[in-house]
Amino acid sequence: MEIVILSGGSSRAALAADAVEALVRSKPDAVLGLATGASPLPVYEELVRRHERGGLDFSRTRAFTLDEYVGLPAGHPESYREVIRRDFTSRVNISEANVLGPDGEAADVPAACRAFEDAISGAGGVDLQLLGLGTDGHIGFNEPGSSLASRTRIKTLLEQTRRDNARFFSSQAEVPHHVLTQGLGTVLESRHVILLAAGAQKAQAVRDLAEGPVAAICPASVLQLHPHVTLLLDEAAASSLRLADYYRHSYDGKPRWQGL
Ligand code: GLP
Repeated sequence: MEIVILSGGSSRAALAADAVEALVRSKPDAVLGLATGASPLPVYEELVRRHERGGLDFSRTRAFTLDEYVGLPAGHPESYREVIRRDFTSRVNISEANVLGPDGEAADVPAACRAFEDAISGAGGVDLQLLGLGTDGHIGFNEPGSSLASRTRIKTLLEQTRRDNARFFSSQAEVPHHVLTQGLGTVLESRHVILLAAGAQKAQAVRDLAEGPVAAICPASVLQLHPHVTLLLDEAAASSLRLADYYRHSYDGKPRWQGL
C-alpha cells in the first residue's frame, strides 16, 4: 500500500487524474470503477478539464459504479446512478450505455446483484477503482461487519452513515436504510485502487485501514490484502498514522517515472 500525504486538494486530484489519464491513453477501452461521495469530486473535475482542454477521450471507456440506494426511483437526484451522471459521465464522452451500476429498483435483488457481478467480469474486470472512505471505515457501502470475501449484495446502513449522508438529502429521514454495494471481494479484484480521504473526521478510519489489523470492524482494512493500493490523503486525514513520516519520506524519494 502506498500512502501519499499532500495538503493541496488539487495536487491529490491531479495525481489520481494522471493515473486515470495514463490508463485511458494506453488502454482506450479501460474499465473504470467510479465512487460517489465528496472525495472523488475534484478528480472528476480534473478529468472533465482534461477532456475539454486536452482531448482526453473516454469514448471507448467503460465504467461501473460501486453502490446504490435501494428504492430511490430512477432519476432521483441522489440516486448514485444520477449523481455519477451529473458529476462526471455526462460531462465527458463516456457513452451512457457503458456506465453500469447495481440496480436499486430491481424486483429480484439477488438476481440483479449476480447480473452486475457478471457484467463486471464480462468487461474483463475493473482496471482502476476510485474509492472514498466512510467515517466508520466503509468502502462502497460495505459497513463494519461485512464479509471480507463479500460480493455485490444488499446491506443495511449504519445510522452513522445515514447521518453522514443526510447532507445530500433534505432530511435524514429521506436517506434510505438499504443499499446495494459491490462486495469487498469484488473491490479486491480491481487491478489498482486509489482511495481518497480528507479531513480529521476520516483520521481514525484511515489509521484502522492502513495500520490496524485486517478486520471486518474496519472493512477498508481488507485493502491491505490488495497488491496495488494508493491512498491519497490530506494532512488531517493522515494525522493519526503512526508511520506518517515514513510514508512522506518514501513518497518524496520515489522515482516519478513509477507513477502511482
Ligand atoms: C458514501 C459512499 C461511499 C463514500 C462515502 C464517503 O457512503 N457510499 O462510497 O466513500 O460516502 O463519502 P465522502 O467522500 O463524501 O466523505
